[in-house]
Amino acid sequence: MAVIFAMAGSAIGLGNIWRFPYILGEHGGSAFLIVYIAATLLLSLPVFVAEVTIGRRSRRSAYGAMAALESGRRWKIAGALSVFIPLFILCYYSVIGGWSLDFLFKSVTNQFIRQTSEEVTGLFGSFITSTWEPIIMHLAFLAICTAIIAKGVKSGIEKFSKYTIPVLFVLIVVMIVYSATLPGSMDGFRYLLDPDFSQLDAKTFVYALGQSFYSMSLGMGAIVTYGSYVKKKENIVATSVGTAISDMLFAILAGMAIMPAVFAAGMEPGAGPGLVFCSVPYIFSTMGAISPILSSLVAVLFFVAILAAAATSCISLQEVGVSYFVEHRGMTRKKAAWLLFAICGSLGVVCSLSFGPLSGVTLVGKNIFDLFDWFASNVLLLTLGFIVAVFVGFVMKKEDVKDEITNGGTNRATGWIFEVVYFLIKWVAPIGILGIFVTNFLI
Ligand code: PFF
Repeated sequence: MAVIFAMAGSAIGLGNIWRFPYILGEHGGSAFLIVYIAATLLLSLPVFVAEVTIGRRSRRSAYGAMAALESGRRWKIAGALSVFIPLFILCYYSVIGGWSLDFLFKSVTNQFIRQTSEEVTGLFGSFITSTWEPIIMHLAFLAICTAIIAKGVKSGIEKFSKYTIPVLFVLIVVMIVYSATLPGSMDGFRYLLDPDFSQLDAKTFVYALGQSFYSMSLGMGAIVTYGSYVKKKENIVATSVGTAISDMLFAILAGMAIMPAVFAAGMEPGAGPGLVFCSVPYIFSTMGAISPILSSLVAVLFFVAILAAAATSCISLQEVGVSYFVEHRGMTRKKAAWLLFAICGSLGVVCSLSFGPLSGVTLVGKNIFDLFDWFASNVLLLTLGFIVAVFVGFVMKKEDVKDEITNGGTNRATGWIFEVVYFLIKWVAPIGILGIFVTNFLI
């Protein structure tokens, strides 16, 4: 049972609260939501089952899992990719972790109270365009995570996050109820929940699938590694469905808390990565006009919870690389953790600067941060997800897959349930991912 919480803990993070609302805002609003739900159920869920199956069958972490089930150089390369991808993501994930840390300080010092919508946007704008503040916060955040990993005490923070995720859930529900009372907020609910298919374009599909993979921690070795801890009696399909639903629910609830505030504040839903960091303080600002104490309390709790969710995610991203260097390169934990701090921290500095001094450096209209994020979510994750589905669908024997998914024919995922899941893994997922991936490059 504990591993389900660990998987949900890895899945629920900045991807749901920070990334989902702004990607939705940039790529079609309510139409995006529908494509995202369909992509999660038809494509991500089968890949999730496939990753857990590989992990549990091989009893190995990401790097060696596929190669343990099937020899061949190509599966070693796939293993190497699943170590590289989380580290690539870590570079810019920790930048957003740094923003969360900064906003925790801002909420402790009551900086959101009685601010107009322009003022809260300005607060974020001046933070993000400055050179040092975001860099210091990014490095501080990453250093905290690195110290936790180096000391090998990550179970402590995981236990802590078991409490903060329910707190986050409650706070989000409170914020939904509260933001519904703001004048103009109904437009936000409509934007989110009233499907407008004229907003659909080819990019909606690739961004929806990329977001779904990102949010469920797929295509980056994390779920394979967790899969290796899943007990033999556990039902893989039920676990996967449970994780997918709770992750989706968290994202949709975050959208329902944030979009109404975006509209009430007269902000742009397509404003980009800063969306949550502008709209959420606006909620706290208006709340402060009613009760400053309540507003500060909710703000502080909110950013502590976000920070804990970001830290557990950051730690599990970094852990994939640390265990590779420890197990396969004979390094000490401490050395491996700080080596990755140096590499990912430096690349993260470049991502951080892309909102300020390096904002002029762009390629096809994307700054460096956006390029990292686009390449990770829309290219790397989908590539590894495709490989995983093909591996389980075509390389592993059907009897072995069946044996693993049905626990030797003893659980409820036998019969037609298995056949449907297997069909999704073998045909729907690879063809769907490939189709969306190719479209990504044609448009
Ligand atoms: N799924 C996480 C999120 O939505 O924030 C991101 C993530 C964390 C991915 C940890 C992978 C991972 F190992």
